Amino acid sequence: MKIIITNNKESGSTEGFKLFKKSIENGAKVIGLATGSTPVALYNEWTQSNLDNSNLISINLDEYTGLTPDNDQSYHYFMQKNLFDKKPFKKSYIPDGIKAINDPQGASDDYNEIIEENPIDIQLLGLGQNGHIAFNEPGTSFDSVTHEVKLTESTIQANSRFFRNIDDVPKSAICMGIANIMSAKEIVIMAFGENKADAVKKMVEGPVTEDVPASVLQNHSNVTLIIDDAAASKLSEESKN
Ligand code: GLP
Repeated sequence: MKIIITNNKESGSTEGFKLFKKSIENGAKVIGLATGSTPVALYNEWTQSNLDNSNLISINLDEYTGLTPDNDQSYHYFMQKNLFDKKPFKKSYIPDGIKAINDPQGASDDYNEIIEENPIDIQLLGLGQNGHIAFNEPGTSFDSVTHEVKLTESTIQANSRFFRNIDDVPKSAICMGIANIMSAKEIVIMAFGENKADAVKKMVEGPVTEDVPASVLQNHSNVTLIIDDAAASKLSEESKN
């Protein structure tokens, strides 16, 4: 795993954007995208760049069950606002959170088909405080493909900051599995801030275990981890160099 440590989130996001730009200039056509607060600054750079997305396909990691695309807490809405409105892609895929209400398996199967037909060239990831990637919580099988996830209390708690009320946070989501994520040819994972330092340490230095979903990335041959000093603060000197 290649590690880039920057002074702050802004310069980390610039480094992340550069990797996407380079990969697209080198022919990447299918771009895996993520939500959460982590990628916002990267998307900001993207919208201000001269990158043209009109020949690219985007595939997002996950969507909450039960939120319509126009709900301002849905990941559809988030992507529209932060990237797609200004830089539309030829086609953008996000799991169908409405179909998932009554048919989570159907919504998952549809999404697996989409990923199979459009192999991901480069995937962006954030990191949960408990080491989750997308909504793959600790204990998720490394062989998992897109599936329905019951969110853990800690994730509901962490994501409640975006909602008016913690009771408004959906209890489940449809999410790409670990195997889908690992099938991407290249992966860029970003984590900023002190509250990510434990998860970063476990991901980089801990054993590869389903208890820490992000640790699976140690097994991928083309991963770049971008962190700021605060998120890097618990890493050994050896990992930092
Ligand atoms: C959510 C998302 C993840 C994201 C994580 C961290 O659970 N499903 O994709 O990586 O939160 O969020 P943040 O980037 O806001 O710290």
